[in-house]
Amino acid sequence: MWWIGALLLSLVVAVVAALRRSPLFTAIGLFFLFFSFLRSLSLIIPPIPAFVLRWYLLLAGVALLLYFSIREETFERFKAPLIALLVEREMRFLRVPVFLLFPLAMAYMAYAYTKPALSPPAESRTIHPEPPVEFSFRGKRIKVLGLENPLRKDRANLARYIAEGKEIYYRNCVFCHGDLWDGKGIFAHGFNPAPLPFRGTDTIAQLPEGYVFWRVSTGGPGLPPNATPWSSAMPVWQDMLSEKEIWKVILYIYDATGNKPRTWE
Ligand code: HEC
Repeated sequence: MWWIGALLLSLVVAVVAALRRSPLFTAIGLFFLFFSFLRSLSLIIPPIPAFVLRWYLLLAGVALLLYFSIREETFERFKAPLIALLVEREMRFLRVPVFLLFPLAMAYMAYAYTKPALSPPAESRTIHPEPPVEFSFRGKRIKVLGLENPLRKDRANLARYIAEGKEIYYRNCVFCHGDLWDGKGIFAHGFNPAPLPFRGTDTIAQLPEGYVFWRVSTGGPGLPPNATPWSSAMPVWQDMLSEKEIWKVILYIYDATGNKPRTWE
């Protein structure tokens, strides 16, 4: 802990300066002694907030200045080393580093204080971001909220739609989402974020079919900004499949995984 060193050093400075009756160095020693004392308090009580610490130090500086300037004779000796540094000939070798290093240190502190942090903000990917109100499907505007699978009502042909959806799945989706619907298709390991599984209770089981339709139609590029900064490899299926084909494959992935779509409550 660096302040233990600072504590000892300022103690030595304060004692030596007091013995040599040098008010300026005694003041500096006492100031740093007080500073290290405040910092060392963090061993027994929670650390003092930086803001409060600054106020204490300011008050300590004012108090020390008052103490050493109240008597004319002490104040003369207090100022003497400063005046000597500024005007005396033999001090000229000290003047250069002091007047060069001091502004440089100040400039660096100002720079370090205002420099913006370069670390990326901590963000986690939102797997199921809020969908847009509506999106464009081959030029047609479709509202996501309340959107239902039109094929589900056609009970008589449901089995056929599911069988057709299965074919669509094995032609298009299996490479990424896997033949066990677990998101582990043969290409899956190449993508980050990885393709999502459809099995289990935390993906499509959580979603209404209208939401899934929006996701399949617009793919990774259709994701809103809060689902970034990761870019999803999920293709934009409206470019390859018709509206009906997408509804069929959706029927299939629910049927195959035994999941039920959520309804729009
Ligand atoms: C090139 C690989 C790839 C192919 C092919 C692919 N997907 Fe995806 N899919 C992904 C990735 C990666 C994600 C996860 C990132 C995301 O949500 O966009 C995903 C996510 C999804 C989601 C979102 C699930 C959820 O819980 O939010 C659905 C639904 C989906 N895919 C359906 C399909 C369907 C249907 C097909 C076939 C027509 C298909 N995908 C083909 C890569 C693929």
